[in-house]
Amino acid sequence: MEFAERVHSMTESEIRKGITDAANPDFISLAGGVPDARLFPAAEFRAAYDKVLRDAPGTFLQYGPTEGYGRLREIIAEREQTDVAGILLTSGAQQGLDLLGRLFVDQGSRVLVEDPSYLGALETFRQYGAEFVAVPSDDEGIRVDALEKARFLYTMPNFANPSGRTMSERRRRELVEAARERELVIVEDDAYGDLRYEGEPVPNLSILDPRVIRIGSFSKVLAPGLRVGWIRAEPQVIRKLVHLKERSDLCGAFGAQMAVAEVSAILPTHVKTLIETYRPRRDAMIDALTEFCPQVRWRKPEGGFFVWCELPVDARNLDVKDVAFVRGGKFHATRPRHNTMRLSFAGVEPDRIREAVRRIGEALS
Ligand SMILES: Cc1ncc(COP(=O)(O)O)c(C=O)c1O
Repeated sequence: MEFAERVHSMTESEIRKGITDAANPDFISLAGGVPDARLFPAAEFRAAYDKVLRDAPGTFLQYGPTEGYGRLREIIAEREQTDVAGILLTSGAQQGLDLLGRLFVDQGSRVLVEDPSYLGALETFRQYGAEFVAVPSDDEGIRVDALEKARFLYTMPNFANPSGRTMSERRRRELVEAARERELVIVEDDAYGDLRYEGEPVPNLSILDPRVIRIGSFSKVLAPGLRVGWIRAEPQVIRKLVHLKERSDLCGAFGAQMAVAEVSAILPTHVKTLIETYRPRRDAMIDALTEFCPQVRWRKPEGGFFVWCELPVDARNLDVKDVAFVRGGKFHATRPRHNTMRLSFAGVEPDRIREAVRRIGEALS
């Protein structure tokens, strides 16, 4: 069997490995970046699926337009302060990344990324031949003076995966201004943006400049198994993406898109519940790191799922009994730094987080 070039160096996604660890009951897993399944609004989805299957079985079960279910596109367009023609529904944010990789990346195309960056994006862009340039950041976010010419810049301005970093408003304004001057495309991935535990919301890059291409998802605020995400872009970009999407799946899972449209009415209250659940977990992790891991450097995230840690040792040599975490090397697109790790607090109760971090501290001492 002869496989295509692009799969030769492909291995199992590190992210999927994290999820497998999370399923092992012997571990306290701080590895997977997955929401707590106990928080899924299952009853609301049961009612929504029942309703849409009863009221519109033909639409639910038929092929639909590639752009996605119209009502859900309208709901997103309203939230995003844009027109429906600027919204494409995707199979999770991950398909959005894949479509953008196919739209922009040729073999050897330069792509600017944060350091560290989201592994799922790096793996996706790399398969199309991306050559990454890691743009240095400071406390406010990506350093605008360090931007270079590239096909696009991929960035997560809110509670980035894995760094937990949030870009300041001043830096966002500088960034869109600099990108405009240099004709640099910005891809803004905001998978965690609704999950803010402290501080004031900062305007999205796409609000500051409508040329920014924005990726969103219902995975973290409703449920990832739905596979419903979206891309917001200028209509001429959406049209190109629609052509690409036709070639991969014709259309998304229409029934799930219809159910999400129904359930989206609960989002404001549901997101509050999520925030009230995840905030104490974040705080437990920060408190435990302060108490048990004085030798570790970390940044307190204002939202999202992750605390990024810099260790005094090589994380590849760090084995913590019955604790899963993700070693940081692969999140660095260009030069792996092996003294880093990502801890996720989303799926674990505060006392278990404390115990896991205590064990990490013990292994480090
Ligand atoms: C930054 C970021 N973007 C995109 C995704 C993919 O999300 P989805 O489930 O919507 O495909 C994730 C998932 O963890 C993520 O962390």
